[in-house]
Order: sequence, then structure tokens, then C-alpha cells
Amino acid sequence: MAAPVVVAGLSSVENMPETAAEPTESSAEAQRRPQFGTRFLTDPRQVFQHNAWDNVEWSTEQEEAAQKKVQENSQPLPAEKQEEFDNRANEYWNDFYTIHENRFFKDRHWLFTEFPELAPQQKPPLDAEENLLNGEDVPSTHTETEFPGATASYRILEVGCGVGNTVFPILKTNNDPGLFVYCCDFSSTAVDLVKSNPEYDPSRCHAFVHDMSDTSADYPIPHQSLDVIVLIFVLSALHPQKMQNTINRLARLLKPGGVLLLRDYGRYDMAQLRFKKGRCLSENFYVRGDGTRVYFFTQDELHDLFCNAGLEKVQNMVDRRLQVNRGKQLTMYRVWVQCKYRIKNIWAEP
Ligand SMILES: C[S@@+](CC[C@H](N)C(=O)[O-])C[C@H]1O[C@@H](n2cnc3c(N)ncnc32)[C@H](O)[C@@H]1O
Repeated sequence: MAAPVVVAGLSSVENMPETAAEPTESSAEAQRRPQFGTRFLTDPRQVFQHNAWDNVEWSTEQEEAAQKKVQENSQPLPAEKQEEFDNRANEYWNDFYTIHENRFFKDRHWLFTEFPELAPQQKPPLDAEENLLNGEDVPSTHTETEFPGATASYRILEVGCGVGNTVFPILKTNNDPGLFVYCCDFSSTAVDLVKSNPEYDPSRCHAFVHDMSDTSADYPIPHQSLDVIVLIFVLSALHPQKMQNTINRLARLLKPGGVLLLRDYGRYDMAQLRFKKGRCLSENFYVRGDGTRVYFFTQDELHDLFCNAGLEKVQNMVDRRLQVNRGKQLTMYRVWVQCKYRIKNIWAEP
């Protein structure tokens, strides 16, 4: 496809919330779309005929302009400032949820098309099934009743769940009686909002406060107990130096054959390019005006993080979307990465 000719001045992108993870989309629109990547802009003159275009190719000039912009704004803040943002990270997110409550992030209509692992009628992970057929049991270090959801046959954990924009659609859509959903966030305000939601059902769900980067804090679930781990626009909120240990830790919670699903910000997303000077913490890592932080990934970086944790690739794709504000005749280039990685080895217990 030819490179799009319509390029909005980045400075003209008005007040699109930096932390809004995804564009708003009507559910009718979402149901019509089988998966991301199906509406292509072939005639640039038609750019304002839809709200979004998939798989937009970037021209070399556009890529170079983005690189230059990032380079120009790469002077990091002083160490003591950085430390403060790291130490008080959960307080900034608490403030965020105190202000926005559950009004900011939208429910994700694309969840079940992109990640069918979250939908009903899942089979046990392949390797676990094979182990059962071979008469081998998955090694277990726990007794069956000592953790929430211990008797469930399909366990999903969402980390950095916010106010439940992924968890509640799963609970509503997935009626598998063996399903149990865990969700955690290090913002106690967010977790309180999840628990006070009328759809929160403790017999099917367990919400808890947990800092995923704190490798000394235990999850309330044993190793090798989860079928799926979900990370949606959350790994990007961590300090890059804490990412590997965090993923290593999570990988140990997966059953043999279990999968980790991620969707997050990609390198040169519009949100990265519109950061003003004085907001850079380290390469491709920034702090927003409200004190929350965000990293912009390449596919290779994520691949390395997951492989180093003993996971293997099922999917690693970049979603380049051109969003259009038809009223204001603006175009916005969004870049997201989406990954599925499966556990390769059974981890040895420490
Ligand atoms: C951009 S929001 C996304 C929320 C949710 N995943 C969604 O898509 O609606 C990032 C979330 O990650 C949480 N978070 C950031 N750092 C975290 C950490 N170290 N441990 C647990 N949660 C964290 C924040 O509190 C916030 O709820």
C-alpha cells in the first residue's frame, strides 16, 4: 500500500488523553470487524471517510521524522526526580483513579477476537492435555483448597487491571463454569473500584492489590496454576529495568502450555511523539503531566523479554493504525504491539 499522504502536524493533535489506551469504538463497529487489520486505505483521498484505517505503512521520511523528534527530546530528568516518580508510582495512579474513577478507559470490544483464549470453551493448554493423556500429572506444590479459585479448571490473571475494563467483559462473556479470574493492580483505589462494581462476584473473581515489579511480594496463587496472563497497557508503566524480573516472575505462574497475552504502546506511537521536552526519563520512557509513566516498545524488545523468561512466540505483531477525527479533519498515527507467548519449560521450584 502507498504511504498515506495526509500527515497531521503532531502539535495539532488536540487533547487526546495520553493514557486512553485505545480509541473509542461502537460495539456494532467492533462486531463487524473480525480482527484488527481489515480496513485499508488505498486511496488517500478517502482518508476522512472512516474513523480508522488499519495496517498503515509509514514512509521512510515519516519514520525518520519520528526518530528525529524522539532524539531531540531524549534529555533525561535528574536522578532524584526519576527516583521520586519510581517510589511514588502507585500514588500517582491512585490520584489518577481518584479523579477519573471508572470513566477513563473503555471496555475492549476487540478482546475476544484478538485473544480468543479469554473467550468461553477453552481447552486445557496443549501440554497439560498431553501430560494428562500420558498419565502424568502437572507437578504441584500446593494443596487444592488453599487459594481462591483452587477448584477452577481455567484460570486467568489480569495484571494492572485498572478498574476492570478487561475483567468484567471476560466475566460477562465467558460462562465456562470452570473459569476463575484473578486481577490485580498496585493502585488500591483501582482495586476498590473493581470490588465495588456490582458485577464483581467473589465466587468467580479475586481482585487484590499487588505491585508486579516487587519480586519479593507473593501472588495469592501457586506456581504453574494459570492458563492465561493478561497485560494490557501495563508493562509500559514499569521502569524498563524492572521489566525482565517482572516477566520472569509471571512466567512461573503459568501452567505448562499457558499463555501470556500483551497489548501495549509501540515505538513512535503518537503519544510518544507528542511528549514535550522535560518529560523524558530514559530512552523511550516518559512521565506524563499526572506523574504516571509510559514506555514505547519495539517488537524485538518484547520478544527478548519473553524469550528470556522461558516463553516462546505464538504471535508478535505491530498494529499501525491511522485514526481520523473527521470533524476536525485530523489524522493521528497510532502504533501498538500485540504479543502472545507460551510457556516452554516447566520452571523448577526455587
Ligand atoms: C494504562 S493503565 C491500564 C489499565 C488496564 N489494564 C486497562 O487496560 O484498562 C495501567 C495500569 O497499570 C497499573 N500499574 C502500573 N504499574 C503497576 C505495577 N507495578 N504493578 C501493578 N499495577 C501497575 C496502573 O495502576 C494502571 O491501572
